[in-house]
This record gives sequence, C-alpha cells and structure tokens, in this order.
Amino acid sequence: MSTQPAPTTPSYSPGLEGVIAGASKISRVDPEKQVLTIRGYDATELARKAQFEEVAHLLVIGHLPSKSEYKTFVSGLKKHAQLPKELYAVLRALPKKTHPMDALRTGISFLSGYDAKVLDNSHDANVAKAIRLCGAVAPIVAAHWRIQHGKRPIPSNKKLSMAADFLSMLTGEMPDEITERVFNASLILYAEHGFNASTFACRVTASTLADIYGSIVAGIGTLKGPLHGGANEEAMKVMLKIKDPKHAEQYILDAIVRKEKLMGFGHRVYKKGDSRVPALKELGREYAASQGNMKWSEMAEIMENTMVREKGIYPNVDLPSAWIYYMMGIPIPLYTPIFAIARMSGWTAHVIEQHDNNRLIRPKSLYEGPEMLTYTPMADRG
Ligand SMILES: CC(C)(COP(=O)(O)OP(=O)(O)OC[C@H]1O[C@@H](n2cnc3c(N)ncnc32)[C@H](O)[C@@H]1OP(=O)(O)O)[C@@H](O)C(=O)NCCC(=O)NCCS
Repeated sequence: MSTQPAPTTPSYSPGLEGVIAGASKISRVDPEKQVLTIRGYDATELARKAQFEEVAHLLVIGHLPSKSEYKTFVSGLKKHAQLPKELYAVLRALPKKTHPMDALRTGISFLSGYDAKVLDNSHDANVAKAIRLCGAVAPIVAAHWRIQHGKRPIPSNKKLSMAADFLSMLTGEMPDEITERVFNASLILYAEHGFNASTFACRVTASTLADIYGSIVAGIGTLKGPLHGGANEEAMKVMLKIKDPKHAEQYILDAIVRKEKLMGFGHRVYKKGDSRVPALKELGREYAASQGNMKWSEMAEIMENTMVREKGIYPNVDLPSAWIYYMMGIPIPLYTPIFAIARMSGWTAHVIEQHDNNRLIRPKSLYEGPEMLTYTPMADRG
C-alpha cells in the first residue's frame, strides 16, 4: 500500500470571492450586520456628524484629529490643492475627449515627478505624500473639467471645506448648506471599503515596493470600470432612460427578462444590502425634499423594491449617490472621479499600511491550457 499522501486540490475561488487576501486595521466590512467601520468608527455616524477631512485624517494618520492636528492636516491639504502651473498645461494638452478618470490618472502620474522623495516608501514620507495626493485630487478633477469645457480653472479656496471647495471649483458658485452637508456625507461614505478591487490594485502595486504614486494610478485605473466606481454613472444613465417613476417597475421587470445587469445593484460582499445605502438614501431624501423634487428618490425606491422582490438583489452605494449628484447638478462623467476624490484617503491609507508591513502579493493561477505540445518550426506550419 502506498504511503504517499493524496494529492491536494489547490483551493480556487473565481474572482477571489470569499478569499482573505491580507490583514488590515483600516476598516471592517460586516455583511451580516450590514456595518462598515473605519478604524472602529461606524461610517454612517461619521457621515452624519464628521467633516470629510476628519475622516481623511482618521484614515491616513490613523486616529481622529485633535483641533490642532486638524488645523495642521487641513493646511497640508490646502497647500497641495495649489497645483503646479505645469500641471494645468498638461491638462490643457490632453485630447478634448479624454475621460475625466484618465485625466486624473495622468495628473497624479505627473505629480510624482515633482516629488523629490518619490522613491522613499518610509512611513513618514508616505504620510506626507498621502496628504499631497488627498489635497491635489479634487483640484485636478475640477480643473480638467473646466479646461475641457473651455473655462478657466478656479483655484482652491483655503477657507472652504473640501466638499464646498470642490463644488465651487467646479461651478464657480458656493454651494448652500444642505448641498455641502450631503455632498460631504457622500464623500465619507465613499472614502474606504476594505479590499475592494481598486484598493486591492493599489496594495498589489505597493507590495512590489512600487511607490505610492504608481500604486494610486493603478487604483484609479481599476476604479474606472463599470463593475466598480463607474457604476454610479451608468446607474444615472438608466434612471434618465426610465424618465418617470411610473415606468420604473416595468423597466426593471423588462431588464430582468433581458438578463441585463443593472448598475448600482448587487455587491460582492453584501448580499443583504449595502451598509452605506440607508444613510445616503435618508440624506438624499432630505436633500430632495429641500429642492421640492422627490422624483429621483421615488424612482430609486421603486427600482429597489422591484429588484429586491424579483431577484433578491439590493442597491449599492452607487444608486443613491447617482441621483443625489444629479440633483446637485453635477455632470455625470464626474461621478466616478468624485468617488476617486473620496477614495484617495482610503487608497493612500492602504498603501501606507502595505509598505509598513510588506509581503509581496503574488497568488498562483490554476492552469487550464494544453500541456507539453510539440514545437513545429514556423516553416512547417504552413
Ligand atoms: C458588484 C457585482 C460585480 C458583484 O457581483 P458578484 O458578487 O460577482 O455577483 P454575480 O455577478 O456572481 O451575481 C450573482 C447573480 O446575481 C445577478 N446580479 C448581480 N448583480 C446584478 C445586477 N446589478 N443586476 C442584475 N443582476 C445582477 C447575476 O447576474 C447573477 O445571476 P445568475 O446567478 O442568474 O447568473 C455585481 O453585483 C454587479 O455587476 N453589479 C453591477 C455593478 C455595480 O453596481 N457595481 C458597484 C459595486 S459597489
């Protein structure tokens, strides 16, 4: 009798579903309790009560700031919100049709050349670079949008919160209190979400000891896809196609028959509902009521009820954010870049954590192709 152990089948999970690919102290996504905590704090409480900049500090530095830490952190963000003039020239040189996410990717790449410590992956150097990236991201998005539409970029205003500053750099107008508050909350709910695809891409890149700029560029490229950050833009396009809440149920029923994937629904981790949705929906309703227009909120509710009833699939954060941004008058191509503005804080926190305790991320693949074929010289292959 053979004493050889039976060959083990390598464990394989398509799409890495359910696989724990690393340890982190940054956030917990609990699909059972439908809770997201950021360094131990409930993200929905942060969204209702905190400034986005506090949460960025929580992510990048590791704790909620004291008053003086907050002042220092915000002045760092504001310093880096003043973009080098050469960056405006680069944004102007981009082809007119450049997607805002691609412009952002280019802008972040460009900034690396301005950093004398680009190759320094030490904790302190990475924190300094994270503050730089978090400060620069919103002005890059706003400046590119204005340049693309034949307008002069508006510089960042030191006195404004990041939420108000972005909206006013975009439009030239100060948002009112409720717009700023709801937009600020949406940034917090977008800031961090465990090992999602873009964050994982950042960590894979960082794990080769590539620098933070390259890691973030990988994250931006990954976020653009419609199965990830791009879903909020696609969700709004569907809502515009539906036009009226009274057509929403039938549209969803027809989409199910066509086996169409509805963006803004479903999630790899949450199967009973996205923890971020109830808070954002509630804020969205408050916003819609303040504008005297419940149309989009009602439409989203009917879409949700129909999808849950027919398929047991719940909306994710991209559905409420889509119609809320639409009501705020934000152009649809900017929804994913806004996600990136918020997620920059989470991405950079993950790159710092990866570099601080690195192990190369290098999984294996399950080979399914042919084996040991005979090579035929090209002359004999016809
Ligand atoms: C996010 C997403 C990729 C997660 O996917 P996943 O965990 O791999 O789930 P699957 O794609 O395996 O879906 C399981 C089933 O639900 C269906 N499903 C999942 N999301 C769906 C959606 N948005 N619309 C319609 N059907 C959906 C799938 O078609 C599949 O059905 P089947 O078993 O009959 O083939 C997926 O839900 C999706 O593509 N959603 C739309 C994009 C989106 O909103 N992304 C943002 C995520 S925050």
